[in-house]
Formats: sequence, C-alpha cells, structure tokens
Amino acid sequence: MSTFTMRRPDDWHVHLRDGPMLAGVVNFTARQFARAIVMPNLNPPVTTVAAAEAYRSRILAALEPGLSFTPLMTCYLTDGIDAGEIERGFAAGVFAACKLYPAHATTNSSHGVTDIKNIRAALETMQRIGMPLLLHGEVTDKHVDIFDREAVFIDTILAKLVRDFPALKIVLEHITTEEAANFVADGPATLAATITPHHLDYNRNAMFEGGIRPHFYCLPVAKREHHRLALRKAATSGSPKFFLGTDSAPHAVSAKETACGCAGVFCAPHAIESYAKVFDEEKAMDRFEAFASENGPRFYGLPLNEERITLEREGQSVPARVSAGGTEIVPFHAGATLGWRVAAS
Ligand code: DOR
Ligand code: ZN
Repeated sequence: MSTFTMRRPDDWHVHLRDGPMLAGVVNFTARQFARAIVMPNLNPPVTTVAAAEAYRSRILAALEPGLSFTPLMTCYLTDGIDAGEIERGFAAGVFAACKLYPAHATTNSSHGVTDIKNIRAALETMQRIGMPLLLHGEVTDKHVDIFDREAVFIDTILAKLVRDFPALKIVLEHITTEEAANFVADGPATLAATITPHHLDYNRNAMFEGGIRPHFYCLPVAKREHHRLALRKAATSGSPKFFLGTDSAPHAVSAKETACGCAGVFCAPHAIESYAKVFDEEKAMDRFEAFASENGPRFYGLPLNEERITLEREGQSVPARVSAGGTEIVPFHAGATLGWRVAAS
C-alpha cells in the first residue's frame, strides 16, 4: 500500500491557546482536521457563552485563507458553574461539550472542580440535553502516586459518575492505562475515550532516557509499557468507543526546558501521520478511518465528514523546532523521520 485515502479526520481534544500562540498553532490542526474539540483552559478559563463565542471568532480569524475548519467549543466547569448558561450555550450551538478539570490537576486548572457534588445541577442538565462531559481523569491527591492517579480516578470518581448518570455521555480523555482502556471497553455505550498519538508511541522510559527529557512530559503522564500496549490494542480494536484526540498542548521551549517545566506535547504538526505510524505498525490500517474519522462524530451525534484526505507512504523529516507566532516550540517526533505524509490536496 503506497497511498491511503480516508474521510477527513477530526481531533476530539486539542489546546489551541490564545493570542500570538493561537495564530501560530491553529493552522497545523486546521490543515489536517475538519473539526476539533477546543479545550477551554485559557487564563481566565472559558466559562460563558460569550467567552466561547469570542474565542471561536479569534480562532476563525487566525485561519489561513482557504482552510475549512470548524472549532467545537467547550465550557470549563467550575464549582460555581451556571447550569442555565451551559444549556443556553448548547442550545445555541456554541458549546459542544463541557470539560471537567479536577482543581489543580494540570495547566490552568486552578478554577477546576473541587468536588463532583458541586456540579450536580450541571451534570443533570447535561444528561437531560445530551451534552457530553469530557473528563481529565486524574485525582489530585498528593498522596496518590502520580502514575496511579488515573486508575484511582476511575475507582473513586468515574465508576460512581457512570452509575449516578446512566444517560450522560462521558469521554474519558487522553487515557494512559490498561485500567482505563478496560473500564471504557466494558462500560456502557455512553462511555468513550480519546487516545493521543504520544501515549500510543512511547512509555514512561522516554522521559528519562539518558537524562531528563521534558518534551515527553505531559499529563496524564505516560505509564509503563504494558499500558502503552493496552492503548494500542484499544485504539486498533475497531471498538466505536475509542477515537482520536491529540491533546496537542504547545508550550514555549523555555517553558518546557526549565526547573519546573510545563506539561504538554505539541503533536499537532504531524498528528495524523503519527497515528498512521501506529496503525501501520499494528497492521491495522483497515481500522484507522473508524478511529480517526467515524467513531468520534458518531459518539457526539454529528455528521461524518464527506471530504477525503490521502496519506502517501513517503518519508518526511520532522523539524527540531517550529516557530509559532514568534514562539519556538519543539514538536512531537522532533528530528525523526515519519513514514507517511499527507498528500497535497
Ligand atoms: O499535558 C497536558 N497539557 N495535559 C493537560 O491536561 C493540559 C495540557 C495543557 O494545557 O498544557
Ligand atoms: Zn488536554
């Protein structure tokens, strides 16, 4: 197989940032993906319909001419979030979903939720109107080992959430463990998960190979090899519960290469090729289109994209750095050669 044609994919989890950084990164996503679920963890976070509309306008204004790309906006849940605002935003077609960050779990999550019972009204509303809940699935208890935080979240929070809200659509975002893959696979049809290209590609050793390697650090942090293998199995299984979500999270080189570096992997520039590499290695190219272009929209209840893209089996080298609006960022696979490239359309 030297070319592979598929429905144009969507990215069900991306950080596009704001200001000059937004202008510098958004087109990497928009060149490949027809739609993307845009994370609301700006500073201040996106908690109102007006803020989401204004952010969406800034995203659209930053697009290269000729690109068709639809940003799907999300509402950042806080302890004091207004359920009426969520319902109005969803009815108006502004909010596609709500994002739950446990307070202090990750970048710009200080306004996040401190206890699920504080957002009960919002969850009841979302369940009633069919609006998905997107979860950063980690507990924040400092006494829980960082490598266990996802599994403990599943046991102590998610299992109860699924029981208490049986009709609520839930996406466990950027899963990193075998426990998460199994919990989602065995769960009800209302429960799904996104998987990033980096968690499919490397395990936690990558962060420590010959020294500390900050560009492999993200949250949830990469786990042991058997977890990576479980994620590859889930992604390539053909199950409609797993779909593409890059969690591309750009940070300036200076914010990564420092005494206390930020979490995030900037995987947008070659996202679809990174996933193609994994599916090709797993001899599962026949299941790639479902993961990248079908399972997500079906879960969200949105139409499939009609446009097609073609990947060519041709080596391309990934630059060591990308300049985004004057900010230098190290992309995922920096300095490596990828075996696929998106053909010019
Ligand atoms: O690694 C991450 N980076 N994980 C997150 O949950 C947030 C993200 C970011 O916004 O930088
Ligand atoms: Zn994220």
